[in-house]
Amino acid sequence: MADGQGYGLLEGKKGLIFGALDDRSIAWRIALACNREGAEFSLSNAPVALRFGDLDELSEITGAEVFPCDVTKEDEIEELMQNVKEEHGSIDFILHAIGMSPNVRKNTGYENLNYHWMQQTLDISAVSLHKVIRYADEAGILNDGGSIVALSYIGAQRIFSKYSDMNDAKALLESIARNYGSRLAERGIRVNTVSQAPTQTSAGTGIKGFDGMYTFADKLAPMGNPSADECADYCVTLFSDLTRKVTMQNLYHDGGFVTAGINEEMINDLAKLYSEREEE
Ligand SMILES: NC(=O)c1ccc[n+]([C@@H]2O[C@H](COP(=O)([O-])OP(=O)(O)OC[C@H]3O[C@@H](n4cnc5c(N)ncnc54)[C@H](O)[C@@H]3O)[C@@H](O)[C@H]2O)c1
Repeated sequence: MADGQGYGLLEGKKGLIFGALDDRSIAWRIALACNREGAEFSLSNAPVALRFGDLDELSEITGAEVFPCDVTKEDEIEELMQNVKEEHGSIDFILHAIGMSPNVRKNTGYENLNYHWMQQTLDISAVSLHKVIRYADEAGILNDGGSIVALSYIGAQRIFSKYSDMNDAKALLESIARNYGSRLAERGIRVNTVSQAPTQTSAGTGIKGFDGMYTFADKLAPMGNPSADECADYCVTLFSDLTRKVTMQNLYHDGGFVTAGINEEMINDLAKLYSEREEE
């Protein structure tokens, strides 16, 4: 419902959104939903993504300024926060929707990880949350009562072999959200992760075996996989004042996948598949 009827949930709120690359990006859908709900915000992505992505189009639709920032570089994050300060004064919400693993991209097995790439995975996909919060706080732009959301995946808790070192990155990301959340709580600032189901985006479909992971989750989750727009609606509630005491949580947005065991359809399909195999 990115461009449907809004509820004015974010009227008067200002924010900073990382990670919109193209119109499939979860951050893109969240930016549209924040715009619909009345928020003002800036957009940021790595300089290389600004060259190859479509961010100007989103900027035009939402009226948001775009600021380049490679989140592995502390000087660029500091400069970004100064730009955001000039643009908005201070902000009420931050979306961290950033993930990348060179090991996953190059399909390196978990037992053969390239450790230099693993450092990059952790830095880009997890430590960057710490840096972003730290430099926003140091710049004095985080309003009391604000909300910070980072996007995670259930690979932080369970083993998804093709997700390789991103499983480790998501576990670290969720830990950073809890630890920073405890330190910002006295100012009423919430820090949460939203664990989204497999979603057909540039990062998602770049994972070998993604289609299988997507279909498995979709069949097992009682409600099926939620879309990026549905994730956007959920994130809007977390940025709004309706969730003022929700903090230090990893919140599953997965149609019930996390607690599902098996269902009749899958039992029947598996039984059929294995009996066909035995007959071969
Ligand atoms: N797609 C899925 O199946 C899925 C499921 C659960 C969680 N997530 C998470 O959602 C978030 C958004 O991913 P997406 O699926 O929308 O894909 P996406 O490819 O659209 O977004 C990933 C973003 O990370 C940005 N990025 C990479 N390196 C960066 C750097 N050094 N500095 C700044 N930005 C950088 C990319 O430019 C891109 O915009 C990620 O954290 C991803 O792990 C995705």
